[in-house]
Amino acid sequence: MPEALSRAIHIDQHGGPEQLTLVQVRVGQPGPGEVRIAHQAVGLNFIDVYQRSGLYPMALPAQLGMEASGIVESVGEGVTHLQVGDRVAYASQPAGAYCEARVMPATCVCRLPDTIAFDMGAAMMLKGLTAQYLLKRTQPQGGLNPGDFVLFHAAAGGVGLIACQWARVMGLRLIGTAGSDAKCALALANGAENAINYVAEDFLERVKDITNGKGVKVVYDSVGKDTWDKSLDCLAPFGLMASFGNASGPVPPMAPGILGPKGSLYLTRQTLFTHISTRASTQAMADDLFGVVASGQVKIHIDQRYPLEAVQQAHRDLEARKTTGCSILTL
Ligand SMILES: NC(=O)c1ccc[n+]([C@@H]2O[C@H](COP(=O)([O-])OP(=O)(O)OC[C@H]3O[C@@H](n4cnc5c(N)ncnc54)[C@H](OP(=O)(O)O)[C@@H]3O)[C@@H](O)[C@H]2O)c1
Repeated sequence: MPEALSRAIHIDQHGGPEQLTLVQVRVGQPGPGEVRIAHQAVGLNFIDVYQRSGLYPMALPAQLGMEASGIVESVGEGVTHLQVGDRVAYASQPAGAYCEARVMPATCVCRLPDTIAFDMGAAMMLKGLTAQYLLKRTQPQGGLNPGDFVLFHAAAGGVGLIACQWARVMGLRLIGTAGSDAKCALALANGAENAINYVAEDFLERVKDITNGKGVKVVYDSVGKDTWDKSLDCLAPFGLMASFGNASGPVPPMAPGILGPKGSLYLTRQTLFTHISTRASTQAMADDLFGVVASGQVKIHIDQRYPLEAVQQAHRDLEARKTTGCSILTL
């Protein structure tokens, strides 16, 4: 396979969406353990915003993007689970998915079932595998059981809409928060049992009402700074605070001592990349995700599509809370 040229999105320095620049890059051959993929669609994620802004610093210049789908063009030495021509999708490090073609480690690249279209594959890997590990691999004391109340912030977003549907499949009573009445309606239509507009209402009071003062077993908090304190107060004794993002800004340092009087709470800060650090765990999680999507129990909502060259607008919309469900970049 000869070298090829690919359009790609780079940043030379951290900053606002204006830093995202369309460039041409050369795509070479895969080395040992790598594959070369011709992308069909690229996923947009909030982590791309953190990496662009510098909240998660990167070596610069950098090619952004953590999620895509495509067709395997060539396979490096030692890669046994993929072949040329395979339909694939991935969520993984290193960044670099904002492009038409790339070479990358094969570990996290999964074959995409024929029933799942490329655009869905690009939209669902990072967000769906995140919902998977949050609901299935991030366990509170005694586990998660049908009938348990959980609170999921930003429930109408990319990860959120998948989590709402999957929680319903698991029999969980998910209370979702979202930033508008329309977003709350979307969360309810996708499996949330209750939805709270946390811009207009006090979500702590509503959670106490809904749970008859008992609180929830787990809070899944990706909003960070704005929701942190009240989220801890939404938990039942021995409840689990599962922090996994900072869309409103990072949470200031806190003293672990406050977890005691609030009910001997557990606190964890999870990242997908620990869960998908091996081929075996990645595939097991992806199989679970593919299964629930193929069965129709979880639908992937692609509510925004932007051409690759409109990536600045895509970032502006995501940061301005204008999006719902998943967004993709088209090629
Ligand atoms: N740790 C991990 O493994 C991991 C993996 C994937 C994603 N994440 C995190 O999960 C979250 C969801 O990711 P996503 O890609 O699916 O994004 P998303 O939920 O589609 O978008 C983020 C949402 O956060 C809410 N939000 C609340 N305050 C905000 C603010 N001040 N500025 C911007 N947004 C605000 C908005 O929803 P409302 O308007 O409804 O409030 C917004 O739509 C992100 O925080 C992301 O970093 C973490």
